[in-house]
Amino acid sequence: MTLPQRVHITEVGPRDGLQNEKQPVPVDVKVQLCERLLAAGVGNLETTSFVSPKWVPQMADAAEVLARIPRPKGVIVSVLTPNMKGLEGALAAGVDEVVIFGAATEAFSHRNINCSIAESIERFRPVAEGAQARGVRVRGAVSVAFGCPYQGEVPVEDVVDVVKRLADLGCDEIGIADTIGTGTASHVRRVMEAAARAYPIERISGHFHDTYGQAIANIYASLQSGIHRFDTSIAGLGGCPYAKGATGNVATEDVVFLMNGLGIETGLDLDQLVDAGQRISTFLGRKSMSRAGNALAAKKAAAVAAADATA
Ligand code: HMG
Ligand code: MG
Repeated sequence: MTLPQRVHITEVGPRDGLQNEKQPVPVDVKVQLCERLLAAGVGNLETTSFVSPKWVPQMADAAEVLARIPRPKGVIVSVLTPNMKGLEGALAAGVDEVVIFGAATEAFSHRNINCSIAESIERFRPVAEGAQARGVRVRGAVSVAFGCPYQGEVPVEDVVDVVKRLADLGCDEIGIADTIGTGTASHVRRVMEAAARAYPIERISGHFHDTYGQAIANIYASLQSGIHRFDTSIAGLGGCPYAKGATGNVATEDVVFLMNGLGIETGLDLDQLVDAGQRISTFLGRKSMSRAGNALAAKKAAAVAAADATA
C-alpha cells in the first residue's frame, strides 16, 4: 500500500485531553488553547463534550467555551453528544460536527455511558437524525476496539458489529479507538482492515491512546492499511475517566513530526503546535508528554540562549 500524500488530523486535546484533568481548567485557558491550535492550522477541533456534568465535571462549561472560540471559515468544530440533551446543546452552540460514542464491549458501554450497546445505538439514532436534518456532520466512535479494561480481549467481529451499526445510522466518519493503548501494529492492521470491509476506508479514523508507547507505531500500521484520518492530542494530553490507567492520546506534535518525515502533508505548523503544547503543559504544571514537542522546545531554548550569549 502506498502511503497517502495528505492525512486529516482531528485535534482532540481540548476535549479528550482535558476531560480527565482533576484540577478545574478555567474557560480562559481552554479558549486560549483552542485559539493556539486554530492558529497552528487545525482543521477539525474537538472542543468539548455535551455530557452530564455529574459524570464529567470538567466539560460542564461546554456552551461557554464554544461561545468564545473563534470559528475560522472551513474549520470543523466538533463536540461529543451521547444523547438528545447533548445534541440540543451542540445545535444551540452551532457546532459543525457531533460525535456519538459507542463501545465494542458491553462492560465499557455501561461504565462510560450507562447503557448497553443496543440501547446506545437506539439513543444515538435520533441524535444522528437530528444532526443530519441540520446539516451537521456525524462522527461515530468505537471505544475499546483493541482491548477493554473490564473485559480484556475484544474480538474483531465485535468491533465490526458496532462499526456496522454506526454505519447504519449514517455516520460520515467512524473512529476506531484504542482507549487503553494496548493495541500493537499487527492487531491494528487486522482490526482496521476488517472495519474497512464493512465501511469505506477513507471515512475510517484511528484514535490511539499511548499508554503502552505503541501509538506512533499503530498510526504507521494504520497508514499501511490505507487509513488517513487520525485523532491526536496536543502535548499527548488525555485519558478517559471511565478507563482506569488509560493515559494520554498520541501527541499531535509527534504525529506531525512523523508525517513531516514521511513527506505527508498535515496542514499543521509544527512550531506553533510545540508552543501550544508547552503552554498548556506549563498551565497544568507538568512536562508535556510529546517527545518531539519537548525536544523541539529544548532546541529552541538552546538557540535563544546561544543568541543571547553572543548579543
Ligand atoms: P445517566 O445518568 O444514565 O443519564 O447518564 P440520565 O439521562 O439519567 O441523566 C442524569 C443527569 O444528567 C440528569 O440530570 C440529566 O439532565 C443530566 P439531573 O436530572 O440528575 O440533574 N444529563 C445531561 N446533562 C448535560 N448534558 C447531557 C446530559 N445527559 C444527561 N448530554 C450519560 C448517561 C450518557 C448522560 C452519562 O453517562 C454521560 O454523560 N457519560 C459521558 C461519559 C464521557 O463523557 N466519557 C468520556 C468521553 S468518551 C471517551 O473519552 C472515549 C473516546 O475518546 C474514544 C476512546 O478513546 O475510546 C471518544
Ligand atoms: Mg479517547
